[in-house]
Order: sequence, then C-alpha cells, then structure tokens
Amino acid sequence: MNPALRRHQRDWEDLGDLDPCWAILAYPERRFGRWDLDDFFRSGEQEIVRLAMDMQRLGHPARRARALDFGCGVGRLTRALAPHFRHCYGVDVSAPMIATARKLNAAFPNCEFVLNGQPDLRMFPDGHFDLIYSVLVLQHLPTRAAIAAYVVDFARILAPGGLLVCQIPSHIPLRRRLQLRRRLYGILRSLGIGPHVLYQRLGLFPMRMTSLPEQDVRALLTDAGARILEARADAMASTAIESRTYYVTKPEGPARPTPSDAV
Ligand SMILES: C[S@@+](CC[C@H](N)C(=O)[O-])C[C@H]1O[C@@H](n2cnc3c(N)ncnc32)[C@H](O)[C@@H]1O
Repeated sequence: MNPALRRHQRDWEDLGDLDPCWAILAYPERRFGRWDLDDFFRSGEQEIVRLAMDMQRLGHPARRARALDFGCGVGRLTRALAPHFRHCYGVDVSAPMIATARKLNAAFPNCEFVLNGQPDLRMFPDGHFDLIYSVLVLQHLPTRAAIAAYVVDFARILAPGGLLVCQIPSHIPLRRRLQLRRRLYGILRSLGIGPHVLYQRLGLFPMRMTSLPEQDVRALLTDAGARILEARADAMASTAIESRTYYVTKPEGPARPTPSDAV
C-alpha cells in the first residue's frame, strides 16, 4: 500500500476507535460520544427515503439485487438500504468502523460489511452492483487522483441500468484547505503521541477535505462509459464548500436478438 493511503487508513482507524458516530456526522454538540444511536440511525433512514424517491423519479436502478454503500462507516446507510435490495454490501477502509458496523447491524441478515484497503474496488467484478451509494466519503481522500481512481472503478462495477450516487466537493476555499488541526495531529501522532491524548485533551483530529472539479468528474465518468443523469448542488454549499451529488447510470447493452428479430 502506498504511504499516503496507509496514513489515510490509519487516520480513519483512529477516528473509528475514538468517536465513530461523530467522525461520520460531525455535529459539534455530538462530539465525544454524544450521538444517541437511535437518532443516528434514523438520520440514515431519512436519507434513504429521499434516495428511494430519486430512484423512482429517475427510473434507475432497473434491478434491485445488489447495493454497495462505499465508505459505510458503522452502517448508518447500509442498514437503511436493506429493505430495498436483496443484498447490501458496506465497504470501508477502517477496521474499527467495520467491526462496529458488524456488531450494530447483526439484526440485518442481508447486510455484509467488508474491509478494503485497496486504492480501487478490484475485489468486485464488472457490472456487479445495481446501486452504488457514497456520501461524505470521497471528500476525505488524500488526493484528487485517489478520488478519480474510485470514481472510475464505480463506473466499472455498476450494472448496466444501475444507479451510482456519489457526492464530491467541487471547490474548497483556501482557508478551509489549510486544515491546521489535521496537520498538527499528523505531526504529533508521528512523534508517538497517542490518538486519545490528541483528540480528547488537545482537541485535534485527522479529518481532511479534498475536492474534484465538476468538469473532471464529468470527464472521468463519460470516458468510463457512464451517463450523468443529474449533478445537484448539495447541502455542503452552505458551508462555503461547493459540493455536488452525481446521479449516474450506465447504458444497457444492445438487446440480444429475439427469434422474431432474426432474419
Ligand atoms: C464521514 S464517514 C461517512 C460514513 C457513511 N458514508 C455515512 O454517511 O454514514 C466516512 C467513512 O469513509 C471511510 N473511508 C475513508 N476512506 C475510504 C476508502 N478509501 N475506502 C473506503 N472507505 C473509506 C471512513 O473510514 C469512514 O467510515
């Protein structure tokens, strides 16, 4: 694994140990373990109710066999997808997140949680998923190239007629790019200071923000054979970070000739 990705994985292992629900939905008043789990999981259900309306309106995915929740954390959205798909996979880079997801979602037999430390999704074959859903994830990757690699692989593993929904910031203002707390966390952590001291005593945490301009995302998806149905400005716009949620499909291949088509 390349060193930047290994550091990124270590950051999310730390966050998954320190305060997993806050690392997922970082409301200041919920910090230090103050998320009520019912409220936390209810927020996922509400989000997937909105997704179900979008699926209806867009007419995708054509089938409902397999869904992927990429960057699943503790399964807030994976479990909410469970009533809509035969099998739901939550994939995450952080072992503590995956361990907690398995524990908290044992009552959802059609949800499976998988650890993936690769810079792509080679563990899945082409055209495997009817839905790929990823929010609040790609924005935390260390580089634009890392975001691009996953976006291209999403297009590969999306089934023809499927639906990919992914959120990516398109622009981050300079002052938000400095990320002093994260930098200081990285320096002190590499000097051997433990994550609990850094987080609880010094108020530092290793979350980063990376953007990818909309025209780059469009070019990546189009070159990969996908079709963008919509690109919507999402709620992060109110924080001065411009962000888009992309709704994407992949054309169904040419229909196989039926006997009546044969000449
Ligand atoms: C802010 S949380 C969002 C979790 C989930 N999408 C939700 O909204 O409930 C970001 C998650 O992405 C995961 N993550 C970060 N980089 C990843 C990568 N390269 N592959 C898979 N998961 C990743 C983190 O470990 C973390 O669980």
